[in-house]
Amino acid sequence: MSLSTQAIGHARLHQLVQTHQLKALMTIIRDQNTPRGDFVFYSDRVIRLLVEEGLNYLPVVSKEVITPMGVPFQGVAFEGRICGVSIMRAGESMEQGLRDVCTSVRIGKVLIQRDERTAQPKLYYSKLPKDIADRWVLLLDPMLATGGSAMKCIEVLLEAGVKEERILFINLICSPEGALAMLEQFPKLQIITAEIDEGMDEQKFILPGLGDFGDRYFGTE
Ligand code: PRP
Ligand code: URA
Repeated sequence: MSLSTQAIGHARLHQLVQTHQLKALMTIIRDQNTPRGDFVFYSDRVIRLLVEEGLNYLPVVSKEVITPMGVPFQGVAFEGRICGVSIMRAGESMEQGLRDVCTSVRIGKVLIQRDERTAQPKLYYSKLPKDIADRWVLLLDPMLATGGSAMKCIEVLLEAGVKEERILFINLICSPEGALAMLEQFPKLQIITAEIDEGMDEQKFILPGLGDFGDRYFGTE
């Protein structure tokens, strides 16, 4: 079985439903000719879809409300508190999408950069909410290539007391080998992605991918 097939069938790797809309949005951001303003606009739309999907994995408890008709309605309410953690710099692009759906959400930041020559991640800085150990964490980074950066970040989260089963890693594109490596290393982690790609080149860039997300989003190409 190919790595892509294994990744697509993995129980803890959740791909967004491949609707025409999503495919059209992803085609725009993958296009090398897309101007930066459009890249930001359409990436933000995909990020919104991803964050909404991520919220589907949070636990709920039963809750009864009374409707304006004076009739009881048996519904649910979110249990557990959440926070976001973005992997700087590219992950910061996903913070607004989270804020748009979760008012006054707390957001921790971890600065991890890949060495451009070796593709090895290096941790520079982290600042997390004090009570993060009691929260569900939406881990934000648009690209999962080797998985090295996100795995380093998860180590930081685990050291801070976060429970592995409460980490939801949200990204736009992942390589099958990176995603599978992460799921093996962290057996309770869940990954939510828009598309699973074919692989990586020698520089560990995702193929077909979209190039360097951070550079395209922040205009530093
Ligand atoms: C990119 C991307 C991820 C990482 C993915 O960041 O945003 O953090 O590479 O690669 P990996 O899965 O092989 O670790 P980069 O270090 O290029 O920095 P940036 O956020 O400043 O673009
Ligand atoms: N980081 C990116 O921005 N793109 C890739 O393809 C790999 C790492």
